Amino acid sequence: MKVKVKVPATTANFGPGFDCLGMALPIYNEITVEETIMPGSGINIQIVNKHDDDGVLFIPTDENNIVYKSIELLYNSIGMSPSELKITIETNIPLTRGLGSSASVIIGGVMAANKLLGNPADEAAILSIAREVEGHLDNIVPAYAGGFCLSANDDDGSIFYQKLNWPKDWKINICVPDFELATNISRSILPECVKLKDAAFNLSHLGLLLKACENEDSELLKKALKDKIHEPYREKIVAGFSTIRDKFKNNNDVYGTVLSGAGPSVTVISNKDAVSEVSESVKQIWSELNIKSQVFTFDVEQNGAVFVE
Ligand code: HSE
Repeated sequence: MKVKVKVPATTANFGPGFDCLGMALPIYNEITVEETIMPGSGINIQIVNKHDDDGVLFIPTDENNIVYKSIELLYNSIGMSPSELKITIETNIPLTRGLGSSASVIIGGVMAANKLLGNPADEAAILSIAREVEGHLDNIVPAYAGGFCLSANDDDGSIFYQKLNWPKDWKINICVPDFELATNISRSILPECVKLKDAAFNLSHLGLLLKACENEDSELLKKALKDKIHEPYREKIVAGFSTIRDKFKNNNDVYGTVLSGAGPSVTVISNKDAVSEVSESVKQIWSELNIKSQVFTFDVEQNGAVFVE
């Protein structure tokens, strides 16, 4: 038996929603898990590089592979160990760019293996296994559920999420530079503790952001898309980010500029009139720093992970 799952990319944080807000985007990785017929053939992991991404060469194809680790956790949760499996990972989401490529393959692997096993894991168990490997919910939940999601961990480990409204006219311009930034490195520069006033700033701005989305109020969104918990530290290691943000500060058609996840991609929210200008300006700013880039304009992907085979 063979199961294939298609899982969207994600952009997380959205400024004040550090580690809890994320959105699915219409680019996809596909993960196929197949029981091999030959006993003793072990675990075989193949990577199909659909994006011509050099980073793919460094994805482990042994037991250190995150898809394998997630599948192993699922098997272990029902007292089994994976023995003969062929795992194929077709990558289309740019790697180490803050676009949820890891979360997508983890969710895809767990869902595919779960179906092979006769669905022993429910939604809570799937998300909990994925969190154990990935660490944070802000990419995992929208990769699984699609849409624009706010997620929370409770003290007992339980996971809650809500899908939020995202106005149709708000375009998501995902600006991807040609340099990598691993999430663990981008997290390592964050302080262990935040100042009370910075926590209060983020809480109030996250509240405003949720209200702006609910009321489709772009003027409120402009005020809300600000962060004091992670971006002030990360802007020092993401070349061009603060210049891009400053460039659009007084542009009426641009509602905000934030880091996508842990970076280095940058998310610019705008109306449709600003889309070409955003793309040209961002490419120009990065090109002046000798950085090549691509800009994609997306609407939110409302579907999460889906079985395609
Ligand atoms: N929220 C994470 C971070 C990235 O900013 O480090 C996505 O999980």
